[in-house]
Amino acid sequence: VRHDDGPDPGGPAALVLAGRAWRGGRLEPVEIAVGEDGRIRSVGRVRDAGRRHDVGDRVILPAATDLHVHFRDPPGPTGVESIATGTVQAALGGVGLVGEMPNTSPEVSSVDALDAKEARVRGRAAVDVLLYASPGSPSALGALAARAGAFKLYLSPTTGIDRPVPPEELPGLLGRLAGLGLPVTVHAEDPSRFLDPRKAENPAAWNRARPPAAEEAAVERLLKAAPPALRVHVAHVTVPSLVTKLRSAGVSFEATPHHLLLEAKAKADARFKVNPPLRGPAERTGMWEAFRAGQIPCVASDHAPHALDRKQGPFDLAPSGVPGVETMLPLLLAEVRRGEVPLPVVLSSLCDRPARWLGQPMGRIAPGHRANLLVVDFRARSTVRADRLHAPAGWTPFEGREAIFPVEHWRDGERIVADGEFVGRPGGTVVRPDFAPQPP
Ligand code: DOR
Ligand code: ZN
Repeated sequence: VRHDDGPDPGGPAALVLAGRAWRGGRLEPVEIAVGEDGRIRSVGRVRDAGRRHDVGDRVILPAATDLHVHFRDPPGPTGVESIATGTVQAALGGVGLVGEMPNTSPEVSSVDALDAKEARVRGRAAVDVLLYASPGSPSALGALAARAGAFKLYLSPTTGIDRPVPPEELPGLLGRLAGLGLPVTVHAEDPSRFLDPRKAENPAAWNRARPPAAEEAAVERLLKAAPPALRVHVAHVTVPSLVTKLRSAGVSFEATPHHLLLEAKAKADARFKVNPPLRGPAERTGMWEAFRAGQIPCVASDHAPHALDRKQGPFDLAPSGVPGVETMLPLLLAEVRRGEVPLPVVLSSLCDRPARWLGQPMGRIAPGHRANLLVVDFRARSTVRADRLHAPAGWTPFEGREAIFPVEHWRDGERIVADGEFVGRPGGTVVRPDFAPQPP
């Protein structure tokens, strides 16, 4: 046991969690002292504890942050999810904070819409929620920025977005956003490179219709237009060449579990229709290699469930999107167990970097961070099955894959998941970024 992580300020801790954690390049026994304020006070050996919870040789991990979900609340006529149902899946999947996207109906592009959305989080969310806004009218941008957690820009049409940002307006908009200080996520596909997607009838054709070139062109345009002061992040990158390009430009980005693990098949139905599309083996393998080498700063689920009857209906009419918030970390922990990716890579890209991107004091087991923690038993492998998940949509694109679900999930030192069941209360709050220096 190491003792060097920090002055225990003395007095009994409210809680001590004892188990193993990843420290200094290996799994070691630790005791994590949590204060009354729900923050980690020290990591090391603790003398006095009000309450001690010992998980033996199970592994304590920081809870993940999922930068990108569509809980679609208010659900509109076709929605199958809500803040309440989505955040329970997040809790069970080891995600302690979600970034909720604004492409609902109505779109979250005004302070009123943001107020309404906040009211839907209060008393209903199992984990914390950061709310993205769409930039509405230029004159209202400042008021919106004072309340939102981040902005989302769509450069192409997709679910709920008929009018993407026109190319000629992009530089001016990015310039205005740069002065506001909030993180800005961009859906980067260039619709001028699409080949009549209405004719596509399966996921392989969808990939050809919204090709990698559309993503490359949009990122090119974004990099040209983005002022240096802008905190800009590219959503769901699917193309290995863009990993290189964005890394050398110093721009943040994410990859999704579906683009890392699944390929576009001609013999699949519209459950596998998603924007940007699933790609072929070359891109998929390249993205996985980049991921396991630690070159993907963030992994986010882009959780976007749609009703099964619409996803199994005619391909051209089916909405794009796949659920994934509950399976993101469990699928990747199973890959860790198989030796396909190092644990610290998963901790960095699912826990640490996304939380830092959103200015949140969580994602590491370190003094000052929120005690948002998971307990994982790497021997407890299971198989993803839709009927064992908690998505009201009732299906998953990851059916049959191996996963390791967290056994416990603690939020600010309070247990919200025990024995893999949600036992918490809907105490999640709306958070906003704080880019003052965070605890180390
Ligand atoms: O597949 C997608 N679904 N891509 C998006 O950009 C939006 C999302 C949704 O909202 O369903
Ligand atoms: Zn999305």
